[in-house]
Amino acid sequence: MSEHAKLILDGQPVELPVVVGTENEKGIDITRLQANSGYLTLDPGYANTGACKSAITFIDGDKGILRYRGYDIAELCEKSTFMEVSYLLINGELPTPEEFARFKDKVLLHSLIHEDMKNFFNSYPGHAHPMAILSSMVCSMSVYHPELLKPNPNAKETSQTITRLLSKVRVLAAFAYKRSVGEAFVYTRPELDYVSNFLHMMFTTPMRPYEPNETIRKAMDVLFILHADHEQNCSTSTVRMVGSSKANLFASISAGVCALWGPLHGGANQSVIEMLEDIERDGCNYRKYIEKAKDKNDPFKLMGFGHRVYKSYDPRAVILKKYCDQILEQLGINDPILDIAKGLEEVALTDPYFIERKLYPNVDFYSGILYRAMGFPTNMFTVLFALGRLPGWIAHWKEMIEDPTTRIARPRQIYVGPTVREYVPASQRA
Ligand code: CMC
Repeated sequence: MSEHAKLILDGQPVELPVVVGTENEKGIDITRLQANSGYLTLDPGYANTGACKSAITFIDGDKGILRYRGYDIAELCEKSTFMEVSYLLINGELPTPEEFARFKDKVLLHSLIHEDMKNFFNSYPGHAHPMAILSSMVCSMSVYHPELLKPNPNAKETSQTITRLLSKVRVLAAFAYKRSVGEAFVYTRPELDYVSNFLHMMFTTPMRPYEPNETIRKAMDVLFILHADHEQNCSTSTVRMVGSSKANLFASISAGVCALWGPLHGGANQSVIEMLEDIERDGCNYRKYIEKAKDKNDPFKLMGFGHRVYKSYDPRAVILKKYCDQILEQLGINDPILDIAKGLEEVALTDPYFIERKLYPNVDFYSGILYRAMGFPTNMFTVLFALGRLPGWIAHWKEMIEDPTTRIARPRQIYVGPTVREYVPASQRA
């Protein structure tokens, strides 16, 4: 017999079905609660609310486990590639060699943007943040592909929109960077893989072709894999929410880019580096910043620390910390902010404030140090996160539109404003 939870409201029992996931996660299904009892649930920040069933990513925040479609993140980083992981997330299974070859060919084929779109880039001021450019450009792509605007999960057009997005968002990101540094746009080279092509479009100049270095290429690939999905985070929930109104994929992804930009989410990678640079300028006194983070009268937070779901070390940060040491050594870089980051982490992990609140370094604590070593400017860091997260957003959008139980996302509220009152003419207002 299936399990039920019993809730007593106004002395009356309300039976609610219990839902159990494949990893034995349990939830109380309140779909009929409002209709049967008149009561709503109140959960600011949705910390206790499951908005959907999903078969894409599993996280155990207490044990520090992250798996895509059942595969452990560390194993994927070691044995797979970002392109293969993208296929896995979107289609549910690892590809056969033939399926993978077809997928990569399609992604390569779509790596040009409409020439008219280049004019848009020139209209932005040079100092424009690349996240602003990226979100508007992704939405603008819909103008050039009106045939792809209907969300139909089974249509050939949807698969085309998906490969177009995967390929072109990388081009838009590189062009946004080129615009910000006043350099000529660079096109993809057919013989290069996805990640090498991105690095080539970013760093090749007419004076100096960029020859992708294997150390940097592998690190970029791992960073993208680590960012590729993270179940119902703020930006993915945004993509699902916008998409639930049947807005097209371009519009939904563009909204996801905007949600990611915030410093509490993907924008944290930029904020971490800015914080570490501030500490360096302030004589590397990181203990002072630990005290600031603990002071409830100080709005300062230790960026790159804490997570809604992880109550132990973020498994992505474990991998990145190791990579930081390796990559900086291989590239012969001695970055003082890596020492500051390690010092901060050491102090925080032994401080009762952080221990009691289970605050550990998250993925953004070390990713920025790697991006910096690879030559990316700080304001591009969140764009790199967006590129990595793109297959996850797409996978969730696809899962949502294929799910027959999906309804338009429309939370409720408990109204706490004034009760009914009469309109006061302007002349009678004090
Ligand atoms: N520094 C100092 N105190 C913190 C921090 C921090 N970074 N994070 C949380 N706390 C405290 C918070 O003040 C609260 O204390 P108290 O119980 O005394 O009121 C307690 O820890 C619980 O925090 P919360 O704000 O209720 O946790 P949340 O789940 O609502 O927020 C978070 C999660 C990630 C937004 C938050 O930890 C934070 O702001 N961290 C810094 C920004 C950051 O690194 N974001 C990147 C997240 S990982 C990338 C991604 O997937 O988005």
